[in-house]
Amino acid sequence: RVVEWDLKDAEKEGYPFFMIKEIYEQPRALRSTIHGLVNDVIIDEAVKLLADADKVFITGAGTSYHASEYFALTTMKLSGKPVIPFIASEYEVYAEVAGSSDILIAVSQSGETMDTMKAVRAFKAKGCRIISLTNIVDSAIARESDIALYTRAGPEIGVAATKTFLTQTLFLSWISILLASETGRLNSNEVAKLLEELRNAPRYVEESVSMSSETVKKLAEKLVPVKSMYYLSRDIGLPVAREGALKIKEIAYIHAEAYPAGESKHGPIALVEPSFPVVFTVPSDRKLEKLLLGNIEEMKARGGFVISVAPQGFNLNERADIVIEVPRTHWILTSLTHTPPLQLLAYYVATMKGLDPDKPRNLAKTVTVE
Ligand code: G6P
Repeated sequence: RVVEWDLKDAEKEGYPFFMIKEIYEQPRALRSTIHGLVNDVIIDEAVKLLADADKVFITGAGTSYHASEYFALTTMKLSGKPVIPFIASEYEVYAEVAGSSDILIAVSQSGETMDTMKAVRAFKAKGCRIISLTNIVDSAIARESDIALYTRAGPEIGVAATKTFLTQTLFLSWISILLASETGRLNSNEVAKLLEELRNAPRYVEESVSMSSETVKKLAEKLVPVKSMYYLSRDIGLPVAREGALKIKEIAYIHAEAYPAGESKHGPIALVEPSFPVVFTVPSDRKLEKLLLGNIEEMKARGGFVISVAPQGFNLNERADIVIEVPRTHWILTSLTHTPPLQLLAYYVATMKGLDPDKPRNLAKTVTVE
């Protein structure tokens, strides 16, 4: 099983920075990943292992942790199987409670991150089986695992992860759906429908970028002088909010905190004063829309500058100061529809500030130390 990379993947192809090139090539990265998923029999083996496992843990660092949390939520919502996500460097206490009938999924773009590797080794020592999801064939973490799965995003040069996050969440959502079929929570029609939605992901991402980029550029100008902001959401939207906050922190150097919207009244709201920016990522889910509308009102009442990233036709858009519309899909595609405008926002703010988004200060693409 060889993952082929094109030489032009490592060139900018006329884009000013790798980050923007990699954002625009997300549909292509997703198409190759889907191609790999459909043709890889090892996926079924991984799904069976997960279905039979006692406890399922999933870990990663940075963006890969956000993909891990996304998987935990999709899996619990679809299959009813509990999944425990944790940040790789916090592995010790989780490894303590792991046993030989448990599985650890290790998510890492590079397959080299030391924190994630440490978690893998600690879980192996407890007799757990390891499934890895990396983007580099035969990476160190892939070699240490029982089942090595691969996203096919191609090389990612920009330090901030972009296309690899979308391919990770697509891959993991595919597994969640198959797992829900295995546990009997979804029937074959439902499974076929959901997988079809995932196959449409490249098109939805294209739509998301074309629908949002003009609004995002205008918004970026307003955020250039900003020092601090929040990204709020609930449920499946939360890991996406975390990813948005991480992007703007990493490359535009704006302090950004992601928070569960319901929890924001227990502290974070104290900082909200007139014109404080609050981004809401609103999944395609009417129940969540209703809940988030209440949280938007709370922020508006304090003068917050509310930005919503929400599907077309959602009512709460009338309450936000800026609306970034994205395609309306099944909620499982939230990471695919809502992340691109958040990546673009970070990119435009960074470049408007004259920063190099490909090489943020103090950060490395791959961290091989603890
Ligand atoms: C570094 C990078 C992040 C990345 C994280 C995990 O901190 O700057 O962008 O998300 O490592 O990397 P991995 O290769 O394990 O996904």
